[in-house]
Amino acid sequence: MNAEELRKKYIEFFKEKGHAEIPSASLIPENDPSVLFTTAGMHPLVPFLLGEKHPSGNRLVNCQRCIRTSDIEYVGDDTHLTFFEMLGNWSLGDPDAPDGVGAGYFRKEAIEWSWEFLTDKKWLGLDKDKISVSVFQGDEDAPKDEESAKLWESVGIPKDRIFYYGKEDNWWGPAGKTGPCGPDTEMFFDTGKECKLDKGSGCQPSCPCGRYVEIWNDVFMEYNKTADGKYEPLKQKNIDTGMGLERTIQAVNGFENVYEIKLLAPLMQLVKNESEQHDEIKARIIVDHIKAAVILIGDGVKPSNLEHGYVVRRLIRRAYRLTKQLDIYNDTLLLLARKVIEIYSNTYKVLVENEKNILETLDVEINKFSKTLDRGLKIFQKELEAKGHQGFSGKVAFDLYQTYGFPKEMIADELRSLGTSINEQEWQEAEQGHKKLSRQGSDKKFAGGLAEQSEKTIRLHTATHLLHQALRNVLGDHVEQRGSNITEERLRFDFTHPEKISNDKLRRVEEIVNEKIKEEIPIDKKVMPIEEAKKLGAIG
Ligand code: SER
Repeated sequence: MNAEELRKKYIEFFKEKGHAEIPSASLIPENDPSVLFTTAGMHPLVPFLLGEKHPSGNRLVNCQRCIRTSDIEYVGDDTHLTFFEMLGNWSLGDPDAPDGVGAGYFRKEAIEWSWEFLTDKKWLGLDKDKISVSVFQGDEDAPKDEESAKLWESVGIPKDRIFYYGKEDNWWGPAGKTGPCGPDTEMFFDTGKECKLDKGSGCQPSCPCGRYVEIWNDVFMEYNKTADGKYEPLKQKNIDTGMGLERTIQAVNGFENVYEIKLLAPLMQLVKNESEQHDEIKARIIVDHIKAAVILIGDGVKPSNLEHGYVVRRLIRRAYRLTKQLDIYNDTLLLLARKVIEIYSNTYKVLVENEKNILETLDVEINKFSKTLDRGLKIFQKELEAKGHQGFSGKVAFDLYQTYGFPKEMIADELRSLGTSINEQEWQEAEQGHKKLSRQGSDKKFAGGLAEQSEKTIRLHTATHLLHQALRNVLGDHVEQRGSNITEERLRFDFTHPEKISNDKLRRVEEIVNEKIKEEIPIDKKVMPIEEAKKLGAIG
């Protein structure tokens, strides 16, 4: 089974169960800058999990493109990827409504359907004996999830393949600091690989050895985490599930690792062909990083020293450094990028449309970095020689990052291979000192977002639309929204424009927005398919 078939089957299965298909949102969250990227299918649905009505109903299904940088240190193992696709189905509230199309559902349906999809020959037809599950063991915030365990038993999973874990394993969310979350039940496929970490107590799904691959997660989203860390019951009970597309294809095909699937294997092959000596882990990291960078640039991100742009920069630079270690030609990264675009040409048309820009951006970034890499490496070497392996100065490491653009994990990679590491405390001190000097803390995030629904924030949200149009009128149609953040006091609007804006132009933008506010144009709301809306001129 390949990715296309799995996407199709999943959507078809849940459509049969009364779900409406919704499109994948952008990787850059539109209304929630409290996180940089869309990290899960539920992410663009937060307002609806909190109670807003979704125009497509309360049973939804889709395939969402996601970026997770929190797992970046695991990339290179058999299953973790920075960019991945997540299949998901949702029930938005109303679990007690009578059965039938449109009514919400909760534990029972979620678990029974997961089982049907995984094991029925018509769908994935996985071997029932190779599936284990885990459920929440309970704590002061939520009770032990015995109901899920019973449901799993009733579909046929024996007790000894049902595991109870705590919040660190069986609780999902919120995606940012606050928001919808809840206990979950996770489904694992047993690859049968020998466990090298077992200390006699037996290998379990929670073991990091790689024998058990987590392929699906059903979240019982009935809590809201508040800013003071409390878990309050949500207004409505929701189901949020996420199936990792790549891992599931790996499991269904009985592959050893995720890089064997058709979305990744040709990329691995390309790196192998181009390298003097093969290093499996480094090749995987190169493939993962370039793929994620290409897709992010396709979604409008440019390498920079801030936020989204910095993530892309890190990915490209680390991949570039690894190609140097493997004696691979610089051009390989561009060949890889072309291949990524080819592989995803049917799925993400935006990559084909932006091909020229993606390749140019990558090329410019690589050239820029190649100029500082050698000088930086000399400083690196000098520090190593001065200190031997006694500990690499965190201050020098921070300087390599700050002045020579070495991503932190790249420095960590270099040091790890020499059996040493960054002095974290010194790094932090250097970073604090730098932050005081420069006011652009790249990690600084704004809380809030449209999850907040007061009259004032709704007005400011409308104002971002006016601002967006005014910017397009004054600067040109290349202006595209790249995020926005609204609190009761102010709005923030991020957008694309290649240069600094003159004061005259800013004044003109301000005038247009104020004129439009004064016109008191009536607000009219209509729900329609996205394509139709675009024909009418909708831009977001
Ligand atoms: N939000 C959950 C996850 O990411 C299920 O979709 O695993």
